[in-house]
Amino acid sequence: MTETIVVIKGDGIGQEVVPAAVEVLEAVADFEFVEREAGDYVRDEQGDPLPEDTYETVRNADATLFGAVGETAADVVLPLREAVDSFANVRPARAYPGVDALRPETDIVFIRENTQGVYSGIESRITDDVTTLTRVITEDASRKIAEFGFEYADANGYDDVTIAHKQNVMRLTDGVFVDAARAVGDERGVDYDEKLMDALGMLLLLEPEEYGVVICPNLAGDVLSDVAAGLVGGLGLLPSANVGADNGMFEPVHGTAPDIAGEGIANPSAAVLSAAMLLEHFGYEETAGSVRTAVEGVLSDGPTTPDLGGSATTDDVAAAIVDRL
Ligand code: NAI
Ligand code: MG
Repeated sequence: MTETIVVIKGDGIGQEVVPAAVEVLEAVADFEFVEREAGDYVRDEQGDPLPEDTYETVRNADATLFGAVGETAADVVLPLREAVDSFANVRPARAYPGVDALRPETDIVFIRENTQGVYSGIESRITDDVTTLTRVITEDASRKIAEFGFEYADANGYDDVTIAHKQNVMRLTDGVFVDAARAVGDERGVDYDEKLMDALGMLLLLEPEEYGVVICPNLAGDVLSDVAAGLVGGLGLLPSANVGADNGMFEPVHGTAPDIAGEGIANPSAAVLSAAMLLEHFGYEETAGSVRTAVEGVLSDGPTTPDLGGSATTDDVAAAIVDRL
């Protein structure tokens, strides 16, 4: 079967790094690529940053490779994550060679629940000065993210699984979350650890090497994965995946980098590593591994882009990665 991949470059350096990632995918796999548009420039031209046709194409495809969009990010990225029915946000924080990381020994993958918690969007204004927010946690969604997290740890060789929560305060909602996650761990007969999410923030800084896979409610996963991104140094190197049951969207963590956009010097590594996560999602583990190895080889031996101290262009780096493949 040939999988259909929607390619959305978006704004700024999205226009530069996504073609590099597509070039790499073309070198190693047989996908059908369909290009669609979204972002600030689409809003300026057509009035809507996320045309219906883009949304529907993403919804009906097998996966989407996404770059970044500018100030319309919330209007584009959130609906697209919903279009792929993404229940899990996978964010590896791993130090790469050639990068000046605060804690190079860090190798942590955050498995973040992507639909519920305080991001459910249920906010109310009670009076002019009183507002409320409803935190939604269901047993089904908690089980689903825990099953995904434990499976991910098993499939990727991580021994340490940690469940992050704040059950001591959010007794009902995180009670459901932790109970569901514990049940999954117990059924699988594997060891796991539980940590209060605030204490975990500190522990990640002090002893990152003690952590492997961290299963988190939505907001905790958002915050903790950014903390760990700081430990490994390079925002320009971090990939991410929004995983659904039959679909997914893969995107670098970085934005449109307006300060360097148009110069052809953006680092394509995060986009290429996101493409590797896409390959993994389809079960092409070996191919994904070879893409990661090629990226790591180029990061350590060069050529590198100016963010890593080199003077190579985006295309030079992409060509060097393809060469290694
Ligand atoms: P940013 O990630 O675009 O840039 C932060 C810094 O990192 C800049 O100095 C940039 O040059 C550098 N950088 C980022 N990626 C790089 C790469 N691949 N190679 C070399 N250097 C790189 O974050 P910022 O400046 O906060 O946001 C810029 C725009 O991007 C905003 O309009 C924001 O809304 C949007 N954004 C969109 C996201 C998305 O579409 N998912 C995510 C984050 C931001
Ligand atoms: Mg965030």
